[in-house]
Amino acid sequence: MPSRDAVSYFGAGPAPLPTPVLEEASKVLLNYHDSGIGITEISHRSPEANAILAHTQSSLRKLLDIPESDGPEGYQILFLQGGGSGEFSAVVYHMVSVWLGALAKKRQQGLDQEAARLRLDYLVTGSWSLKASQEAARLVGAEHVNGVTDARKHRDGKFGLIPPPDTWTQTKTNDDVALTYYCDNETVDGVEFPSPPSGQNLVADMSSNFLSRPVDIRRHAAIFGGAQKNVGTTGITIAIVSNSILPPHAEMADPTLLRKLGLPVGPVVLDWPTIAKNNSLYNTLPIFDVWIAGQVMQRLLDQSPVEKSPRIAEQEAESNKKSQMLYSVLDGHSDVYNVVPDKSVRSRMNICFRVKGGDAEAEKAFLKGAEGKGLMGLKGHRSVGGIRISNYNAVAVAAAEKLARYMEEFAGERKA
Ligand SMILES: Cc1ncc(COP(=O)(O)O)c(C=O)c1O
Repeated sequence: MPSRDAVSYFGAGPAPLPTPVLEEASKVLLNYHDSGIGITEISHRSPEANAILAHTQSSLRKLLDIPESDGPEGYQILFLQGGGSGEFSAVVYHMVSVWLGALAKKRQQGLDQEAARLRLDYLVTGSWSLKASQEAARLVGAEHVNGVTDARKHRDGKFGLIPPPDTWTQTKTNDDVALTYYCDNETVDGVEFPSPPSGQNLVADMSSNFLSRPVDIRRHAAIFGGAQKNVGTTGITIAIVSNSILPPHAEMADPTLLRKLGLPVGPVVLDWPTIAKNNSLYNTLPIFDVWIAGQVMQRLLDQSPVEKSPRIAEQEAESNKKSQMLYSVLDGHSDVYNVVPDKSVRSRMNICFRVKGGDAEAEKAFLKGAEGKGLMGLKGHRSVGGIRISNYNAVAVAAAEKLARYMEEFAGERKA
């Protein structure tokens, strides 16, 4: 049986966690802070749990420079369950309710005609934004969902590009737009936005590049991400939500009105105002997952100087260094490897490529050779095939270097 040290794991999620965090986790599972009780056994309403929650929130605030204020310029940090997929629905329920709440304030009559103007703008640049847009269409009806762009139409039916903004068809009237949605890093297709797009009520899925670079929080109405890649264990999703779209700064539509107009009313556990009002403790929060995320964040803070702003810049430099090294091996052997996405949008987190143009035998041999060296988790997503290196924060530089050496060796053998 291989030891943890013998394996370098590049899985796409769940993904590696820093070993010291897991070592500490194994202790607190048995006995949290000498209380005689394990962390998964304590009440989510206990003082210990509250301290864990506060620590994780404040660490995230420092790392991403999240504005703290009760005014409309402040942001709440929420912990939810239901994964990134749960938030595909939550964002729709919430942003539609905010949109209708604002409309109902302005007009008492003719609301059903006005409600027909509702638009949800989706930038479809990969498999996850596609799924999110499909969920929006399921909830509110396809007639309300505007595909601002569909990258497949610009690249022979396949993802791998972010089409230029001058080709986008954003909804023209800002008042009609409940949200503009994008996925910052497409985990399956290896496509990452170099910088956030523009759009009314911008919402971002950052599940697979959370905490890997600074984020311009103030440009967003909301940002969410599942914890299980860069932040922690499977079980919690983090949402950073602007106060400007939460009560009392925003008026939510009454559920009766939503029902009357045929618009959806979501489950209470996904309801951002309810979760915000209860500081994420509306129902039982998996506090162990919040603790893990807090430990991962604390390590990032410890690594980066206090005077540096933003504190996440160190992590960005490391992510860039690892991804540039791996892409340079791939580019250096373009007769053996082909990177899937366009150069302009290559993800630093999920490096997707084919071996010998997708030759099944060559890709099998690549994976087998890698496994023989303890380089695991490199198979591409089942929907697209190929090879995917997930280069998340906990992948050590040494692990990326070991993989780069193997890729060089393999390419040398294939050329010979
Ligand atoms: C970018 C992105 N968004 C959303 C999801 C869905 O997350 P979950 O499986 O937690 O629902 C994933 C999962 O890998 C993802 O990579």
